[in-house]
Amino acid sequence: MEYDKKSIENIDVTRKKALVRCDFNVPQDDAGRITADKRIVESLPTLRYLLDHDAAVIACSHLGRPKGAVNPKYSLIPVAKRLEELLHRPVIMAGDVVGEDAKAKAAALQPGQIMLLENVRFHAEEEKNDPAFAKQLADMADIFVNDAFGTAHRAHASTAGVADYLPAVCGFLIQKEINVMGRALANPKHPFVVVLGGAKVSDKIGVINNLLNKVDTIIIGGAMAYTFKKACGRPIGKSRCEEDKLDLAKELVLKAVGLGVHFYLPGDHVVGSHFGADAKAHIVRHIPAEMMGMDIGPTTTTRYVKEIMKAGTIIWNGPMGVFEFPDFSEGTKMIARAMAKADGISIVGGGDSAAAAEQFGFADRMDHVSTGGGASLEFLEGLELPGIACLQDK
Ligand code: 3PG
Repeated sequence: MEYDKKSIENIDVTRKKALVRCDFNVPQDDAGRITADKRIVESLPTLRYLLDHDAAVIACSHLGRPKGAVNPKYSLIPVAKRLEELLHRPVIMAGDVVGEDAKAKAAALQPGQIMLLENVRFHAEEEKNDPAFAKQLADMADIFVNDAFGTAHRAHASTAGVADYLPAVCGFLIQKEINVMGRALANPKHPFVVVLGGAKVSDKIGVINNLLNKVDTIIIGGAMAYTFKKACGRPIGKSRCEEDKLDLAKELVLKAVGLGVHFYLPGDHVVGSHFGADAKAHIVRHIPAEMMGMDIGPTTTTRYVKEIMKAGTIIWNGPMGVFEFPDFSEGTKMIARAMAKADGISIVGGGDSAAAAEQFGFADRMDHVSTGGGASLEFLEGLELPGIACLQDK
């Protein structure tokens, strides 16, 4: 999917009220403390630009999945506090989304001030992309700025619906995400290597199909590798497997080979007797009947690292193993390390791979770590993202 959308730099924002959709869906611990603020930090360039250009910012976001009901557990108050610390200026917190409090605070908002609406998903109308709800949001502002890349694959009222009522442009985060990933897909430096992991083949079918004509090498790890292995007639013991995807997995391998794409599956594995951090790790070439694979083995890791090191472009989506369990984390860690060290352009799709890159301390050395999980996957699949498609073309 190629986009050439107007950004906040292409319109006059001065003294305008800007409804800015961010993705502040950040992880929190049981006490409600934010445990990773990357998405908030990544929203700052857009927010600062608007505030510095005398716009009044009405920021909005979802947090979690409150399913259309007000639930304090999903309040954006902790986000407002973090935003205040990062912006070094007050963030006015609205008590609701489109209620009296939000409307009054939005009406009183002055150029250079920022407020945050409550969680848009406190209203069921948000996910239904209800036009009346979208209009209520839009009525508070003069322009719509979408900077929520992580939610751009959702056609919701605050991500797409509001664009029917306001001039709509993107912020710097969406611009960066589509520029970096779009360029890598449209004009990759070869060899172009894609590293795919995670639990399910079914999650990655679209990506594999879309990239088969573009890439030189596809590297497979994670639980999805066992479905591929079984499809190729190899023993996988008790490993996770999508039985109903075996034919498809075989088809994908044959298609890749037919197109001359190098398609790598793990040749050795780190296995355990059960799914748990306490499982004793064994390295095997053939997975015994009573064991399950939980990471790629050291020989496979070495082979994959070699491919990454000589790549011109590397895109990684999905961990190589159960990296939350220390004894089964080495494969994922070594892939992240290789990407950080490689000379090629390294792009990490969001979600688990971004969390792994962060956990192992390599995120800062990647060329790009996407803030989108599902959104970056859909982008790599070549699907249209409604939250971007609705914005004005240049
Ligand atoms: C994400 O974390 O992937 C985005 O914030 C979207 O959240 P959702 O899957 O609940 O729509």
